[in-house]
Amino acid sequence: MADAKNSFYLTTPIYYVNDAPHIGHAYTTVAADMLTRWHRQRQEDVWFLTGTDEHGQKVMRTAESNGVTPQQWADKLVDDAWVPVLNTLNAKNDDFIRTTQPRHESAVQEFISKLHDQGDIYAGSYEGPYCVGCEEYKQAGELLDGTGEHEGQKVCPIHGYPVEMLSEQNYFFAMSKYQDRLLAFYEEHPEFIQPASARNEVLGFVKQGLQDLSISRNTFDWGIPLPWDSEHVLYVWFDALLNYMTALQKNVDGEDTPELFEKYWPANVHLVGKDILRFHAVIWPAMLMAHGSALPKTIFAHGWLLVGGEKMSKTKLTGIAPSQIIDVFGSDAFRYYFMRAIQFGQDGSFSWEDMAAQYNAALANGWGNLASRLAAMVGKYFGGALPQAGEFTEADQHIADVAAKAVADAEAAIDAISPNHAIDAVWTLVDALNLYITEQEPWKVAKDESQAGQGGRLATILVTAAEGLRALAVLLNPVMPIAAGKLWDSLGAEDYLGALDAQPVATAGEFGQLKPGTTVTKGEALFPRLEDTTN
Ligand code: MSP
Repeated sequence: MADAKNSFYLTTPIYYVNDAPHIGHAYTTVAADMLTRWHRQRQEDVWFLTGTDEHGQKVMRTAESNGVTPQQWADKLVDDAWVPVLNTLNAKNDDFIRTTQPRHESAVQEFISKLHDQGDIYAGSYEGPYCVGCEEYKQAGELLDGTGEHEGQKVCPIHGYPVEMLSEQNYFFAMSKYQDRLLAFYEEHPEFIQPASARNEVLGFVKQGLQDLSISRNTFDWGIPLPWDSEHVLYVWFDALLNYMTALQKNVDGEDTPELFEKYWPANVHLVGKDILRFHAVIWPAMLMAHGSALPKTIFAHGWLLVGGEKMSKTKLTGIAPSQIIDVFGSDAFRYYFMRAIQFGQDGSFSWEDMAAQYNAALANGWGNLASRLAAMVGKYFGGALPQAGEFTEADQHIADVAAKAVADAEAAIDAISPNHAIDAVWTLVDALNLYITEQEPWKVAKDESQAGQGGRLATILVTAAEGLRALAVLLNPVMPIAAGKLWDSLGAEDYLGALDAQPVATAGEFGQLKPGTTVTKGEALFPRLEDTTN
């Protein structure tokens, strides 16, 4: 929910540039885009931040094995893959932060200097197993025994790759001293970690006792140098988490932006995958407590897209590029599918067969067909001008009631960060309208001249359906902006109701907004039926 400032600041994690995006990454971005578009249509002041995480050993090693510098590698991946994928997904972010930007590096140095000066950072040494995939020291107890080519070695439970034993002199953040304050904070703010399963995991972890955190590395130099000891670079996670704050402090041109910070800090929602929950729900708030800054309202951990029961990943060669699916189905259908088919917060899997089946059933036959039938009937029976409705019967009122309830339920689901439930709620209206058309049989009513004119039964049926479709265009715009925009055009409402993006979701369910005489046009199909894609 937005706060008293009526502002809503939402972030995605910043993505590692060691490789190009797959649909697991796209999943987080699409959820962020749907939620922020919805909040914008609530007339809130929205800021949607995404970006890339460019330091650390993982990126450095990939660059080395490709024979280029880490900066060259990062620049290439950002330009060729991470920025273009936003367009492919039709995501409308407000800013894109890269951790190699000077605006970020200088603000990070200021932040850690403060912690160092006040005694929250001290020198020490650390020895332990490190997973470069996670960029994290692991506890011995969480490692698995390797099999096959990794027989005899200990492997990371997330990446399945052998960990490396590291022994280094480094600096530590005195995180353990924030343990009690963190536990008190979780207690006072049950909404801070969502969903409940994620909250329980973090509570259990912190209650076991927090250790201080090693926050520097001195065996390589691809990172932000510590201001007080340039032999060390800052630990990549400490650097990365700060992006959420530094992006509001300066713009890409390096100019201070205090008004942005004032308006949007702290974040309303950090969306993260469950693999990076602890960094966000433990380390990040401890850093902010140490700094004396306000904490974000909610960390929401979503599940993984699985392939063969495991997290989809490029390293395991199971990554599917978003464009592979979008080239076939379009970005709207991609967004719809992933936002509806998987309960947000739980794992899910993708299959071409399921995607094709959902596309045909819900989009081509469900919503798309409804829109084209209505436009065709207004064309055929009223020359393409929306008629004047007559008296509403119970059946028409039922549609208006379903629309009002769909709005209320979808709004509540958005507040609960549950995109799939929001779409389920909206779909009650798609289903009700299809049933309504089947039951009201306007094509039969049209044959009776006494009912087929202005103010007659036929007109009332078509206007009711048109109002339902108008509500659907508004409610589905955050999920499927291209199709919703086509429908808005076809209903001809823009001239007097204004642009679709500016339509408030709260009043979408109120009927009587379309004007009699409005030109309704039958454009191209919203979702052309796929002819047997499974063969
Ligand atoms: N760079 C860190 C995040 C730093 S945020 C301060 C990172 N990057 S990542 O590229 O590996 O992952 C970014 C996001 O993509 C994470 O939220 C992660 O959970 C998500 N996904 C990566 N693979 C995924 C799936 N197979 N399924 C769903 N989401 C997954 O972690």
